[in-house]
Amino acid sequence: MPEDLGIVLAGGSATRLRPVTTVVSKQLLPVYDKPVIYYPLTSLILAGFRKIALISTPKALPQYEELFGNGSQLGLEIHYIEQPTPNGLATAFTLTEKLGSGSDSALILGDNLFHGSQFGHNLGNYRGEPGAHIFAYAVDNPSEFGVVTFDESGKALSIEEKPVNPKSNWAIPGFYFYDSSVFERAKTLQPSKRGEYEITDLNRTYLNESKLKVEKIPRGTAWLDLGTPDGLLDASEYVRTLQKRQGVPIGSPEEAAWRMGYISMDQLEKIVAEHPNPYYQNLLRKAAATS
Ligand code: G1P
Repeated sequence: MPEDLGIVLAGGSATRLRPVTTVVSKQLLPVYDKPVIYYPLTSLILAGFRKIALISTPKALPQYEELFGNGSQLGLEIHYIEQPTPNGLATAFTLTEKLGSGSDSALILGDNLFHGSQFGHNLGNYRGEPGAHIFAYAVDNPSEFGVVTFDESGKALSIEEKPVNPKSNWAIPGFYFYDSSVFERAKTLQPSKRGEYEITDLNRTYLNESKLKVEKIPRGTAWLDLGTPDGLLDASEYVRTLQKRQGVPIGSPEEAAWRMGYISMDQLEKIVAEHPNPYYQNLLRKAAATS
């Protein structure tokens, strides 16, 4: 069996964050003490992925490469893939077809932050499931997202991309698990009215075959949008408050890699020794306290 592929999509033009993003990629901006992209990468690590495809713009990609290298310091194998134009989330699978062919995969959007005590633990269960597994999260502003409706038994009935009149308040967060058929399905899609290959259309191919499982994320789990100035500040405050109060790092790939057994305590200690500042020192203190 080929190694499962975890994909982080860190492209886009981030117009909602201009002028901050005029020259800097959104997913490199800070959320409290670490770059935005650390959070989704940590989710993929906790889900058990070691082979990672990081997709970004031709301009930003070298910066991500400088940040993570080949990933070996985290026990990962990171591949860097250019998205020449921001033409939709579903293109993540045409761009990674060679890398992921024959394997199960997950896509996480580079600006989606998930946090909840059981959420990380459960992620590993979705790998290897037949069909597709996505999530739903109750929000006040569903028309800004993909929206799903359910029947009385909780089975997904319909999905729509950013409907003007949403039929439910269940938004679809940017974290999707797929079986190996996703790469073939992605090739069959047509651009939407806004000219993008939509992830919602890809998910609909599974829904039409009754192969789409949609799980409601429980209330105790946070899904934060990092795409606006307020979203970034709210997320920073959230992370700072919880980290200080609970002493547990949120969104630290180093700690997650150690926790998953990808790297040893010796390797974690070496990373910390190279960067003696509070972010790294806390990793070690917290890892030791919770081991
Ligand atoms: C994308 C998807 C949408 C999803 C959202 C989650 O929208 O198209 O279905 O609900 O991500 O963040 P975007 O934020 O790229 O406009």
